Amino acid sequence: MKIGIIGLGFVGLSLTSVLASKGYDVIGIDTDNEKCNKIINGVSPFFEPGLEKVLQNGLKKKLKIENNFLLINSCDFIFVTVGTPQKANGSIDLSKIKKAISTIAENLLKNNKKPIIIIKSTVIPGTTTKVILPILEKKSNKKNGKDFGLISNPEFLQESNAIKDTEFPHVVVLGGDQTEFMKKTKKLFMKLHPNVPIIITNHQTSEMIKYANNAFLATKISFINQLSNICQKIPGANIDDVGATMGLDPRIGKLFLNAGPGYGGSCLPKDMRALINFANISGINPTLLNAVEDLNTKQLEQIILMTKEKLGNLTSKKITILGTAFKPNTDDIRDSIAIELIKKLLKKKARITIHDPKAMKNTKRIFEEKINYAETMKDALSKSECVIIMTQWKQYEKLNNNEFKYMKRKFVIDCRRMLAKKQLDVDYYAIGLGR
Ligand code: UGA
Repeated sequence: MKIGIIGLGFVGLSLTSVLASKGYDVIGIDTDNEKCNKIINGVSPFFEPGLEKVLQNGLKKKLKIENNFLLINSCDFIFVTVGTPQKANGSIDLSKIKKAISTIAENLLKNNKKPIIIIKSTVIPGTTTKVILPILEKKSNKKNGKDFGLISNPEFLQESNAIKDTEFPHVVVLGGDQTEFMKKTKKLFMKLHPNVPIIITNHQTSEMIKYANNAFLATKISFINQLSNICQKIPGANIDDVGATMGLDPRIGKLFLNAGPGYGGSCLPKDMRALINFANISGINPTLLNAVEDLNTKQLEQIILMTKEKLGNLTSKKITILGTAFKPNTDDIRDSIAIELIKKLLKKKARITIHDPKAMKNTKRIFEEKINYAETMKDALSKSECVIIMTQWKQYEKLNNNEFKYMKRKFVIDCRRMLAKKQLDVDYYAIGLGR
């Protein structure tokens, strides 16, 4: 049995590496030559804990990395894991997936194999039946359910935990018709994840499940962020105690109740906008989803307000940002709130210095010489008038008076309450803590 995986981003490369390390005969395909070359040499094109080790293990077995789509001809299962970014109006951009599907269809036309095509990319409900299937059938001149199988299989992995999530997902969702192809796919996943529930449904429900998950996670975050703003107005109130205690109620669950500067990353913001756009087109006014998104945008304003309240006019003020990655243990800065914050502060003519253990290079690609990049904490804090902790990197927990002494004005805004329990000789503000 041969497995092809098209698109070697977080989802595709994690799946490729995990399957290959388990000994499956895998071909990972990506059109980006430079990326392929890195992967062939056992180097991940992005930072993801544990990924390189699993990849290198796979490369010692049967893993092949290629930019040649012709190789999918030999595959029994073809996973599609290309990105589905957003257009300027928030709607989903299907150009990459359409291209990948067209290529698969052209290859189907030329051979008699009956592969199962599994769509992992996040797509708006209805896309598989209304866009993907017609391209496949028209360009290949073959029939779904007879000459090939088509299955929707949304992915729930989190960046920074991608390998573990790929090996041990909480659920497997398979959308599509109840055919022999579905049976074969179920068998593959049962073998891969023996004790994981497998939900079999139709394409559109499976596609909707993915958006439901991400929208609910975003809702939890905006909910706790709104409560954290209320807590800030109650002297002595602590949002972490509120969130942790709420989380003990099994109906609520403890995860995703950490107040902060808002949700970022390449998925939650994009999927929320795509779902809102889809709801509007469908004639549903998504009032709750709109509020969740609105709160997320306004959370950043809270931070700027705190900064201005203390520093007044921000022109020429030296501000340090700790953490630009959208969350710890990644170098990913896509839709990171810290990046938005820097853009807004630069507009107000503040002088910015940043520090991030992994995302410095990616941040430099955006701001180049417009901001300063500090390798050490001393450099980051030296002569600073305000430090804003944006990303919950473990090492920021260690910050103490010894380091803050380098600041010109010891003003700390802690968006993650990492230093809340410390006795510090600083003017300390934190999201979610009432003063
Ligand atoms: C998210 C989902 O969690 C995954 O299940 C999903 O598969 C993925 O999107 C996707 O659609 O591909 P990810 O983008 O890796 O995963 O990031 P999260 O861990 O969800 O974090 C998103 C943002 O929310 C981060 O900025 C994080 O700091 C913020 N967050 C998260 C909070 O502010 N508070 C929390 O309690 C949790």
